[in-house]
Amino acid sequence: MCGIVAAVSADNIVPILVQGLQRLEYRGYDSCGVAVHQGGELRRSRSTARVAELQALVASEGIASGTGIAHTRWATHGAPVVHNAHPHISRGRVALVHNGIIENHEELRAELQAKGYVFESQTDTEVIAHLIDHLYTGDLLEAVQQATQRLTGAFAIAVMARDEPQRVVGARQGSPLVLGLGEGANYLASDAMALAGVTERIVYLEEGDVVDVQAGKHWVSAADAGGSFRAVARPERHVQAHSGAADLGPYRHYMQKEIFEQPRALADTLEGVAGITPELFGDGAYGVFKQIDRVLILACGTSYYAGSAAKYWLEAIAKIPTSVEIASEYRYRASVPDPRTLVVTISQSGETADTLAALRHAQKLGMPHSLTICNVATSAMVRECELAYITRAGVEVGVASTKAFTTQLAALYLLTLTLAQVRGHLSDEQADAHLKAMRHLPVALQGVLALEPQVIAWAEAFARKDHALFLGRGLHYPIALEGALKLKEISYIHAEAYPAGELKHGPLALVTADMPVVTVAPKDALLEKLKSNMQEVRARGGELFVIADANTRIEPGEGMHVIRLPENDGLLSPILHTVPLQLLAYHTAVARGTDVDKPRNLAKSVTVE
Ligand code: M6R
Repeated sequence: MCGIVAAVSADNIVPILVQGLQRLEYRGYDSCGVAVHQGGELRRSRSTARVAELQALVASEGIASGTGIAHTRWATHGAPVVHNAHPHISRGRVALVHNGIIENHEELRAELQAKGYVFESQTDTEVIAHLIDHLYTGDLLEAVQQATQRLTGAFAIAVMARDEPQRVVGARQGSPLVLGLGEGANYLASDAMALAGVTERIVYLEEGDVVDVQAGKHWVSAADAGGSFRAVARPERHVQAHSGAADLGPYRHYMQKEIFEQPRALADTLEGVAGITPELFGDGAYGVFKQIDRVLILACGTSYYAGSAAKYWLEAIAKIPTSVEIASEYRYRASVPDPRTLVVTISQSGETADTLAALRHAQKLGMPHSLTICNVATSAMVRECELAYITRAGVEVGVASTKAFTTQLAALYLLTLTLAQVRGHLSDEQADAHLKAMRHLPVALQGVLALEPQVIAWAEAFARKDHALFLGRGLHYPIALEGALKLKEISYIHAEAYPAGELKHGPLALVTADMPVVTVAPKDALLEKLKSNMQEVRARGGELFVIADANTRIEPGEGMHVIRLPENDGLLSPILHTVPLQLLAYHTAVARGTDVDKPRNLAKSVTVE
């Protein structure tokens, strides 16, 4: 997804801008660019290649300056071509980079065209550059403040003016933007990680903030009810952001590395959990948990599937009614709010625009209690929720989420046990026994990872297929959904998941010898039913690839391939069954030669609607 880095300093900041873009690369992008103030004019380089090529380009063009803005673009309006790449420049006087989507861009475009502005791109962003130029009368801050009042939609912007060489102005509404404070230099970035190694002094700008950034000073303002801008105080925080570009070590891709990091990620996520207690989720959690009698989970993509699995736990163990909603649907649905609901958001990044908007929507509807399961402690999600559990998966670079998912499941299981205890459905002894089973997870995961050679053999067959079906039942249906999502997003094989009992109601029509059917088969109460569903597939010539628990008595044979997991505690088996599915997607993608860590059209952190 789009990324912004900007800086003002007495020294050349181009290396910092390029390095910042490199740190944001993991988010996914399809073009990049830099603009600086140099020799009394605005100079720019843009590329549809990787940031490394942009770096060579700026060096060959002699681009250097103490004031500059830079961007990685993930196309929304207009194709990923150079003329749509940011920065956009208006009449040689204003240069701008933008994250987000301007909803009233068509209306503004018509208005500016009528004033004589000529558009060079198909982007919604270019209207902002022209609008600021149009409003500019010698004070960039003032022009940006006025322009923000005309924009509808989501934006984080960084802007430079030709006539003010030592200044960058930033603004945010709906998209994240941070101010980094340095010694004789100040910065803007869409994510503190872009400034890792540059500064740890971070100010998180709030909705509606406009910030004036100069080398030795900064000034944050926000509009009051009457639309006049006044200075506002925003706290400085000490943030140790880690670079996304961690070493690959012995692995070929970040995704593979992150799959193999899961035992460590789970151990870290459970570290410090001495017992099941509400305080794990923050001060005041006991009071909140006593007041609620429903759970509403809001999330997107893989995080939504983690929530879907947790619903089974929450209802079966904590006996609390739970609904799970796709955030982008919930926010626009006329729903019936219940103030005694705990709104739980799940997000790896903590910056997913749809999930944040759904949270705010729930709060606006009158549901004051919120908790997030999130992997980034400094994210907007954590800041905006009353309670939080920070998963400690570490930086996840691969676009396809892996270790974030399994650590989310672990955190959701802890939440289930805590609510069960608070609601009187779990004794201390039972809670301890569950926790003991959880502590075994890292070891159990090592056992599952050792199955990789068997999965590689399956992947060779999958790489030649165009479609795949995934089946699961109960708690493992969301795991089948997650397996299908992994396969489609990185191997580009069309994959669908169904609850196995639903097969005969339609999807069975798709089953032929060419349709591999992956089945998640734990040893649980639904196993015998699942075996009947598998027979339905075999009877139609379908080829089964079964991920079974030990002692399930599912034998390999003609059209029946079986990988057996080590013995495990039943309720936690979703975490273990996920891993072979991740490995299957990974090795199938490798065999097909796709860009595993940066699959086409996808971004790591989806900060636009
Ligand atoms: O950062 P989040 O967990 O909020 O992201 C949600 C989805 O965008 C994310 O899980 C996406 O579906 C991944 N590409 C899945 O691998």
